[in-house]
Amino acid sequence: MTEIDQAERLRIPGELEIHLRNSDIEGFLSGGSGSVTLIASRGRDRRFVKYVARRSNAIDGHEADRLLTKARQVQLIRRIAPEFGTYVPVVRAARLPHGCVLESQFVEGSSPIDILLSGDVPGFSTVLTQILDVLGSLAYNRRASEPISPSAPYVDRLSRRLDYVASSQGFAAFAQPPDTQGGDGFADVTNLALDIGASRGLLPTRLFFPAHGDLNLFNVIVRPDRSGFALVDQRGTVDDWDPVYDLGKILLSVWLQAALELGLHTGDSPEVRRRRQLLSCGAEVVRDCVDSWNFRSALGVDRKQLWLRVVFAAAVHAMCESAARISVACSPACTDAEREYEKAAVYLSCGRLLLLQLRSSREPVLPWPWDRA
Ligand SMILES: Nc1ncnc2c1ncn2[C@@H]1O[C@H](COP(=O)(O)OP(=O)(O)O)[C@@H](O)[C@H]1O
Ligand SMILES: [Mg+2]
Repeated sequence: MTEIDQAERLRIPGELEIHLRNSDIEGFLSGGSGSVTLIASRGRDRRFVKYVARRSNAIDGHEADRLLTKARQVQLIRRIAPEFGTYVPVVRAARLPHGCVLESQFVEGSSPIDILLSGDVPGFSTVLTQILDVLGSLAYNRRASEPISPSAPYVDRLSRRLDYVASSQGFAAFAQPPDTQGGDGFADVTNLALDIGASRGLLPTRLFFPAHGDLNLFNVIVRPDRSGFALVDQRGTVDDWDPVYDLGKILLSVWLQAALELGLHTGDSPEVRRRRQLLSCGAEVVRDCVDSWNFRSALGVDRKQLWLRVVFAAAVHAMCESAARISVACSPACTDAEREYEKAAVYLSCGRLLLLQLRSSREPVLPWPWDRA
């Protein structure tokens, strides 16, 4: 086993080190959320450990205590749907004096995004179909709520998060938010989302038991032999939720998140261009998979409506993700705040462009970050 060196050890908060005193720490993983993520082992048992410090200015969904509700979500799903074994079991979850820690079984494998960027587009398509099939038939399809308005899953969240973006001093110093560029104000963006939701037939018809709640494809681990997949980093809620929310996160991860996380949004080398091309292909694959999704009829929508709803969800998620990046930039564990602010600016402007397209009833075309003026 490789022990981490002294400099790395300093990155581990004292209370986490005490919590893990009976384990060997194998090394850090690159977590993107300002948290501390590492691999720990005890004998042959390997665990993925995530620690989030408690802080007063964390955005909703990034609070330390959310780690504990993530554990509850997994336990509940594994209990009521034992056949749905794709959620990685939680080994231990604890509230410490200054933060929370979640330990899960460590899963070997890679993200579907890795499969896509390796150039294996058919392999990516197969994995995505498998994920949607399993979610559609086992997870979402359990019970549905009465029809509801889009406020709870989308617009309220967007409104809260845009308030956070607007109030962030650091972000204002880094980038001009869109409302100062002669466009709609932040409040208007929320109204824009509400209008689109109401007027274009995008209302979620029903909410279902949540399958995940943060289903970006970096939270899916495909086993090395491709025999199956595991889900990690679920939202941490046991409320009913809109399955299209998950589909929107899948699209967002191929459209913007992968480009930004992997630094493909700038530069012009042949390799960068090749990878961008693969992401564009990946977005087409997402569309094809959503089109043939076995759960569409249960939602009571036709193909076109479902795709518009997925794009709407992706646009709202993009703008909300802007606030999440700012929250990460403000976290003490963040090592490159400027990079997070840059991502926040891209998420905000691309999400807003997509919402404007949806309002004008044009066939939506994803604004790729490298196409920005
Ligand atoms: N149980 C696990 N086993 C192996 N790798 C994991 C596990 N949980 C998460 N990971 C990897 O670590 C990454 C970051 O963890 P995650 O909980 O998703 O944090 P965040 O998205 O907040 O950075 C994931 O995208 C995944 O690649
Ligand atoms: Mg994650």
